[in-house]
Amino acid sequence: MTAITEANVAAARTLLAELTLDEKVDMIHAAGLFRTEGVPRLGIPPFKMDDGPMGPREELHNDNWAPLYNTRDRVTYLPSGSAVASTWNRDLAHKAGQVLGAEARGRGKDVILGPSINIKRSPLCGRNFEYMSEDPYLTGEQGVAFVKGVQESDVAACAKHYAANSQETDRLEVDETISERALREIYLPAFEDVVKRGGVLSLMGAYNLVNGEQCCESKRLLDDILRGEWGFRGFVVSDWSAVKRTVASARVGLDVEMSVTPNFDEYYFANPLRKAVQNGEVDEVDIDAKVLRVLAVMDALHMLPAYGEHGEHGAENTARKPGSYATLAHAQAALDVARESIVLLKNEADDQGHTLLPLDEHSMRRVLVVGANADRIHSSGGGSAVIKALHEVTPILGLNGQLGGNVEIEYALGYDAKQVVQDDSWQEDSLENSVDSAADDAERAAHLREEAVSLAREYAASGDPVIFVGGLDHEYDLEGRDRENLQLPYGQDALIEALLEVNPNTILVFVAGSPVAMPWADCARAIVWNWYNGCESGTALAETLLGRVNPSGHLPETFPMALEDSPAHSIGTFGPGLHVRYDEDIFVGYRHYETEHVPVLFPFGHGLGYTTFDYSACDVRLVDDEVRLAFTVTNTGKRAGKAVPQVYFGLEGTGESRPIKELRGFTKVELQPGESRQIELVLDAARALRYWSNESGAYALAPAAHVYVGESVADIRLTGFLAACEAADSDQSKDGMAITA
Ligand code: BGC
Repeated sequence: MTAITEANVAAARTLLAELTLDEKVDMIHAAGLFRTEGVPRLGIPPFKMDDGPMGPREELHNDNWAPLYNTRDRVTYLPSGSAVASTWNRDLAHKAGQVLGAEARGRGKDVILGPSINIKRSPLCGRNFEYMSEDPYLTGEQGVAFVKGVQESDVAACAKHYAANSQETDRLEVDETISERALREIYLPAFEDVVKRGGVLSLMGAYNLVNGEQCCESKRLLDDILRGEWGFRGFVVSDWSAVKRTVASARVGLDVEMSVTPNFDEYYFANPLRKAVQNGEVDEVDIDAKVLRVLAVMDALHMLPAYGEHGEHGAENTARKPGSYATLAHAQAALDVARESIVLLKNEADDQGHTLLPLDEHSMRRVLVVGANADRIHSSGGGSAVIKALHEVTPILGLNGQLGGNVEIEYALGYDAKQVVQDDSWQEDSLENSVDSAADDAERAAHLREEAVSLAREYAASGDPVIFVGGLDHEYDLEGRDRENLQLPYGQDALIEALLEVNPNTILVFVAGSPVAMPWADCARAIVWNWYNGCESGTALAETLLGRVNPSGHLPETFPMALEDSPAHSIGTFGPGLHVRYDEDIFVGYRHYETEHVPVLFPFGHGLGYTTFDYSACDVRLVDDEVRLAFTVTNTGKRAGKAVPQVYFGLEGTGESRPIKELRGFTKVELQPGESRQIELVLDAARALRYWSNESGAYALAPAAHVYVGESVADIRLTGFLAACEAADSDQSKDGMAITA
């Protein structure tokens, strides 16, 4: 079940005809912080919504943000959006969506407010942990799979935030100047994908302005593009307090107003809307269109009473799936995702060819674990994505749990991290920029560091492993606030340097939702990136460190060397000022670094494993409307592992300045040691060759493209060329196109 059918629309029309203006208005604004009003006399239920992408949020009071503190709203904590993207595995994105949908439905929800599919424009954005990638194709592919998974449970996914909600600073007022080309190629395509290919039933209108226009008032975004061009038939809900005016939002396709205050009758779409209809400022047909869309989605979700053949009101609809939550099967699914999302960033061999990872658990007698993130949970923070998790396995619990009683685990905190406890009134306050209030205790910091360093020195002498687990937390990866810089907080850089100095074999693990600077990276031999990885995070991490799982996550974003390198900062503007310029245009993330040859810390798509893959025999051709790629991947190592072949196109012949590489395809394949497999990828040519032509102000198809296949955007193993020509004599030609590889 996904897209809305004619039958859904017909059922909606039947009901609409029976509604009074008051009833209609009540259906399109909040009657609770997360619900609308129903129409009991016609069996129309309220719409119950809930955050967010990592699991259904705990139950709150209807009219204030305090939790109900019941014992029945604990859920499965799913890996964050970045982690899901990092798997490069559509089946796992689908599985994560299935869990979210089933849990939301199990908790009695109708709409789950996710996935979050904004593009990571700057590494500083506070909500990057929720978002998937700096790349629209990867976001679109994982987003589509996720949405389909959610909606299998008769729950609407809600893709957010439409559009270009790429910073938290001044998020309610910031006006973003974005070129048409950047909108069409970077910021809109993932939304287009979840609408056209994912059948998403709802979207959330963003807080910000795009080119001087409020997203929730934008005829262009809501009517012309979303509904006109993409054919969206679901409904659009405002972000909470994103509607700013009654008439301007009522006249466009913004359907439901939600907000953060409890004066529901005073919402722009409540009494003020009734008045606007009565005095002729808003036409009732505009309201009808909104209610029709809401009803059509309800019908698609089997929320409305079943109707008899002659349209009479029928019995309660029994076709709706029940869902379930906090189940073992869901925790297992979260573990499956976590296992494939962890990215092995570095694992350098010594002179004898030995790497630090995987650890040899059979010879291990003791291990030193250092760092605050080894021993803390992260589900309890972040903003609206907060989860009341049934459980969350920390890294140290994961290690201890997996290693058992024969290995002694010694723990040193190493540094103090702030305890992140989300305040009940957080959501209302979040409309203002929040401030960081860190206070340092230098003496204690020095003591903690010295304690950890002297233990690490001792472990260096005995040759036992030392694992540092640091990174960020939801004091930094946080809704309502962007980070100020790329630096690791809490004095971690100094600690890491000291650890590496006394013990160069220290293994570094980071739990975080967005890139950090790593000034000591050259001295480190093993670096692991763990994300906020759901309820089984620590288990997946331990399995990975011990080699029971061969890491196969790949970065869905570039890790830059320095903030100044990031195009959002070096070319465009970001952060405070109520007006930001996206002057980097389409050169976001790797599109900039690759094209301008800017060295990076770790490139987009990068991810190592405990085996290696060889690529050979590339064949690229255009057959009808498809680009068909074939190549061979061989596992050249001693362990089974999963390769992620990535396909990049460098569009040629457009006459416009373009990135030299853009992701156009990928797959994930498991290979046994020594196994070779021929991989065949089929890409939709109209999508793969599409670009926005500045000259014609419309999409066009590039006449040719360089084709690259590799393990990251910077590790290209095979190249080909796809060219348009008149080559009638070519046996590969079709429709005037011939391909050379
Ligand atoms: C966030 C949304 C969220 C909503 C409801 C807003 O502050 O931007 O992503 O769904 O609150 O909690």
